[in-house]
Formats: sequence, structure tokens, C-alpha cells
Amino acid sequence: MDTFYIQTFGCQMNENDSEKIAGMLMELGLSESNYTSADLVLFNTCSIRGNADEKFFGHLGAAKARKAKEPDMLIAVCGCFAQQDGAAEEIMSKYPVDIIFGTHNLSSLEELLTKRIETGKTQREILEDSDIEEGLPIKRSYAHKAFVTIMNGCDNYCSYCIVPFARGREKSREAANIITEIKDLAANGCKEVMLLGQNVNSYGIKSNFIERFSDLLLDVAVVKGIERIRFMTSHPKDFGVDIIEAINASNKICNSIHLPLQSGSSKILASMNRVYSKEWYLDLAANIRESIKGVSITTDIIVGFPGEEDWDFEQTMEVMDKCKFEGAFTFIFSPRKGTKAYNLDNVVPEHVIKERFNYLVAFQNNIMAQDSERYVGTSQEILVDGPSTKNMNILSGRTMSNKLVNFTGQAQAGETVFVKITEGKPSHLFGHIEERKWV
Ligand code: SAH
Ligand code: SF4
Ligand code: F3S
Repeated sequence: MDTFYIQTFGCQMNENDSEKIAGMLMELGLSESNYTSADLVLFNTCSIRGNADEKFFGHLGAAKARKAKEPDMLIAVCGCFAQQDGAAEEIMSKYPVDIIFGTHNLSSLEELLTKRIETGKTQREILEDSDIEEGLPIKRSYAHKAFVTIMNGCDNYCSYCIVPFARGREKSREAANIITEIKDLAANGCKEVMLLGQNVNSYGIKSNFIERFSDLLLDVAVVKGIERIRFMTSHPKDFGVDIIEAINASNKICNSIHLPLQSGSSKILASMNRVYSKEWYLDLAANIRESIKGVSITTDIIVGFPGEEDWDFEQTMEVMDKCKFEGAFTFIFSPRKGTKAYNLDNVVPEHVIKERFNYLVAFQNNIMAQDSERYVGTSQEILVDGPSTKNMNILSGRTMSNKLVNFTGQAQAGETVFVKITEGKPSHLFGHIEERKWV
């Protein structure tokens, strides 16, 4: 057993878990390889929508075919799909999987791997719940920016969402541990941290910490070397003025807020258990826009939630128009077994959902195109991520407000440069480096 390959299907929290799994495997002496030759192929699953499950089973099917030819290779499955009731049994009944574990026991991997090699038998360990595991080794994807999980789990039980079942109860990490991790990152050249959690702005509440999310933001802001602090996701219900004040108090805390709306209809929001109304959200968004200079607000929308009538969808469109979000992730409702919304009546016909979905996407693209136009002619401070994924001759990076910028010029990943914006597309900006900022 010399090499491994990890396929990650989920959100940034899952990516962060995969970085930890990679770190543990490397500490065991394994090195990273590719899917076709790795001795151990690990799938870190997501279950947020049906298409995430389907994608995973497609990959698992391919791995099964590879294992039929190479019986010594090992297949491991972990993450949010694996964590759910009955999922491990379902996987094991159809696929030759060697190791299965859930979201609460990443650190069990070494023991499970050893036992699998010693006994030749499938190893499975799914824990009900646990505290966040501290001190795991980690193999970071980038040197200049890093994910830092600050809390895990969710107690909100939005009626459509699998996360409370896949990630367990809401728990926060001790601030001291978070700060130690970030100081260590900064000492190794990291400039940007993304604080992660299913609901970052309820940080500390369930764990009875005195420290709130806004306090944590300010504590991170004084870590020497850290230039940008991002965070996601914020539930609107917990977005207090203290967070607005913290963002305004430090120019290191990025003025970009991901604030999922889900629906603009108060009736649908109630059925989703989002605990705010259309008007309440509009007030909050307006307050954020008024209070934070140059703020960018992005959102998530679910189209076709059961019971969504034309009138409800019109409410969503009204909010989209009023809020003029800088970005929106749009999803078609996917019934998740075990959630409340799974059994709801008044399912919206597929053709109606598609029509609404396409309308929403086109509308939002237009808003984003107009937003991008506003940047043309300005100079933006960009943290360079490196060559663009689509064209190696072009560099890529982001503004403080999280707008993606592709540009020409000479710079290394992790440098901060000023880019003159020459063109605005709906999804990104284009420009050229105009002046170096040596820091
Ligand atoms: N904790 C975050 C969201 C995590 S999931 C929050 O509360 O905002 C990311 C997004 O996936 C959600 O905001 C929602 O828009 C979408 N989503 C979750 N469950 C879904 C489902 N069953 N069908 C369609 N979209 C879903
Ligand atoms: Fe899911 Fe709602 Fe929790 Fe977000 S807040 S993870 S949408 S249950
Ligand atoms: Fe998916 Fe789990 Fe994230 S269900 S979206 S990987 S928390």
C-alpha cells in the first residue's frame, strides 16, 4: 500500500475533511497518486441533492470495475452519504468496498486501514455523533489560502436539508484552537483564511462559549500575516449587527457575505422552516448594503419546493430584483429521504420547475453582467491564486468582495497585486496587472 487518491464530492467542509484525510495518509507514508493507479481510492461523499448521490454511485461503479481487474486495490467511502442510516449497508450490499466511515471519525481511518489489511475483511465504523476532532495532520491544497473549520453540524433542520442528519449536532471549536491553527498557517505564508461552518454566525452558541462569531472574526483579524478573512455560510436568522460592526472594524474581514435566501415567499419559507419572512430578509439585506461599503451579497435559491405556486415564485423574483445579489447558486428541489420535505404533497411538475429555473438563472445572469460592468475602469486589489484553470497563460484571483478576476501580467500565487479591470462578464472580470504592491 503506497499510494492513494481522494475524490471529494461535497462542499468546502468536505474538502477540508479530505485535506485532513490526505494529511493522515501521508503521515502513514502513502503518497498522492491518480485514480487509475492508486492503491487506495477514497470517496468523500456528499448527499445534499440526488445528483450528488448519483455522481458518487457512478464513480463507485467504475471503481468496482477496476477492482475486478485489480483485486488488491482498496476502496474506501466516507462523508455525508456514508453517515446516513442504512447507507453503509446499501453500499456494502452492491459494491466491494473495503472501508466505510462517517463524518464523525476521520481519525479512525488508520485503525480501519490496518484492520482491513490484517483481516482482509470490510471495516465499517459509523459513529452517531462526536466532538470535532482536533490536531489531525493536514495536507493543504494551497499555501496562500486555507479552509479553517470553526464549527460543524447543524441544528436548524430546514425541512429539505440532509445536513443535520449527515453532520450531526452543531458544535463549535474552541477559539484558542482555531487561533493556533491560523497563527500556524500565517507563519507558513498563508494570507487568506476561509472560516467554515454550516452556520458560522451561530458560532459558540450551542457550545455555551462566551465568545461570539463577531469576537472570533476580530481575534483572527489581529493574527499577523493574515490579510483576508472570509467566512461561510451565514444563516440570515443569526446575522446580527455585531457581525456588521466587526466587518467594518477591520479591513481584513472581507466585505462579501453568503446569505442564503432559499425562497422569497414567506409561505414557502415557513414550510422550509427557515424562520424568517420575505420582509425580514429584505430588511436585513438592505441594512447590510447600507452599513458595509462595497459589500457583495450572494445567495442560494431552491426552485420547485413542494407547494411553490406561480405567486410564490414571483415573490422570489421580487426579492432577486430588490437585492441584486452579486451571485446566486440556484438549485432544483431534491427530495431527501429522512427529511420533513420528503413527504410533502403538492409536488411541482418538472416542466414548471425547469421554466422557473431557467427564468431565474437568466435574470440573475443579467444582474451579474451589470454588476461586472461597474468594475470596468477600476483598479482592484487581487490575491493571486495562480494560472487560470482554463488557460495557463492567464492568471486568476479574487477581489476582496470575492469577484473572480482573470488577468494578464507576471505574478506568483499568493502575491497581492493591483489589476486594472478592462472587461466585465457575468461570471468574472478581465484585466491586467497595473502595479505591484510589495508587502
Ligand atoms: N448551511 C448552509 C447551506 C448548506 S447546503 C445554509 O444554511 O445556507 C447548500 C445549499 O444547498 C442550501 O443553501 C440550499 O440552497 C441547497 N440545498 C440543500 N438541500 C437541498 C435540497 N434538498 N434540494 C435542493 N437544494 C438543496
Ligand atoms: Fe441545511 Fe438549513 Fe442547516 Fe443550512 S441551516 S445546513 S440549509 S438545515
Ligand atoms: Fe454535502 Fe455534507 Fe457538505 S451533504 S454539502 S458534503 S455538509
